[in-house]
Amino acid sequence: MKVFVTGGAGYIGSHTVLELLKAGHDVVVVDNLCNSSEESLKRVTRLAGRDIVFYNADIRDEKKLEEIVSKEAPFDATIHFAALKAVGESVSIPLKYYENNVGGTFTLLKVLAAHNCKNIVFSSSATVYGQPQSVPIREDFPTPGCTNPYGWTKLMMEQVFRDVQKADGEWNTILLRYFNPIGAHESGEIGEDPAGIPNNLLPYVAQVAIGRLKELSVFGDDYPTVDGTGVRDYIHVVDLALGHLRAIEKLVEKPGFKIYNLGTGNGYSVLQIIKAFEEASSRKVPYAIKPRREGDIAECWADPALAANELGWKAERGIKEMCRDLWNWQSKNPYGFGKPPAGE
Ligand code: NAD
Ligand code: WQD
Repeated sequence: MKVFVTGGAGYIGSHTVLELLKAGHDVVVVDNLCNSSEESLKRVTRLAGRDIVFYNADIRDEKKLEEIVSKEAPFDATIHFAALKAVGESVSIPLKYYENNVGGTFTLLKVLAAHNCKNIVFSSSATVYGQPQSVPIREDFPTPGCTNPYGWTKLMMEQVFRDVQKADGEWNTILLRYFNPIGAHESGEIGEDPAGIPNNLLPYVAQVAIGRLKELSVFGDDYPTVDGTGVRDYIHVVDLALGHLRAIEKLVEKPGFKIYNLGTGNGYSVLQIIKAFEEASSRKVPYAIKPRREGDIAECWADPALAANELGWKAERGIKEMCRDLWNWQSKNPYGFGKPPAGE
């Protein structure tokens, strides 16, 4: 297949592009590199032994996007990763998030429709479930609203995709709700490269282990969970990438509109993660218990049965592999794709 990938230089995008190339698909990437570097794609093509077509462009730039799609279409499928994703930042600069994520999606859908490329897979998030009524979470659970603008952009985009497909049955749309992607490709050549101080647990833990950060703050130890700390469904980024391959194969069946959870179905607490990472890295991860982080929920994990039944997809890698591969990436690339920041 010929696959158009927005945001393909980023963390999940780069791992997905690699799996697409390995499976023999042709890939066209558009990314404005606002949160990534072209180096990730260079490494991807080296690992795959195959090339991609890359455009450094912003999906909100309709003229440019039109030029790219005119030149490259038809696509058998589009995978739409491009978005801003920092929860805290979205609270301080909400308009930028709505403009980039929701606005960018409008432009993308308009241009794709004009070229009759109506098969799409979209990166949604478990954040749309808000405070779940129970765990594990199924796709038919309510999506009552989010605690931050980032989450709202995902919910709004889900609604846009739903309405567009309803109005024009030629669209085939699969929304993938990711749980907590972590880890890296087993080569250690590509991985997550957060700008500044990481917001998410695993990149923070890895930077403590490598000595870039002093100590982890554990946000709350009084939740009603196994040990009082927050529980999440961590999923290896390569399993997540493979979920996208199953999703584009599903598009061939013309499924209309579908939603799938991509998670493992298992939950791990913050303290369990620290222990698993210490074992994988043979390093200590010093931590201190701090107050709860605003907007956090106690526990969240997926019921992944629908993706297993309808996509034939199941996460294969466990927490050991996730920590091992993250440590391999972090220790080979202590500063990600770049150089040490000034002062380090
Ligand atoms: P990322 O920031 O590494 O990748 C996103 C990519 O999109 C980056 O390369 C960035 O440069 C690009 N981009 C952003 N705005 C753009 C624009 N206007 N035009 C062109 N390119 C643009 O993030 P990621 O972790 O790989 O996430 C990929 C997708 O998955 C995002 O939509 C994110 O919201 C979603 N998601 C991520 C997580 C997670 O925990 N990482 C969880 C659930 C959902
Ligand atoms: C995991 C657990 C924290 C950092 C976020 C987004 C969500 C999705 C995935 C995109 C929680 C605890 C964390 C730290 C800690 N992204 N923690 N100390 O909050 O489940 O989900 O990323 O769609 O939208 O909200 O992930 O990695 O931030 O936190 O104790 O320094 O680790 O309280 O229990 P979260 P996370």
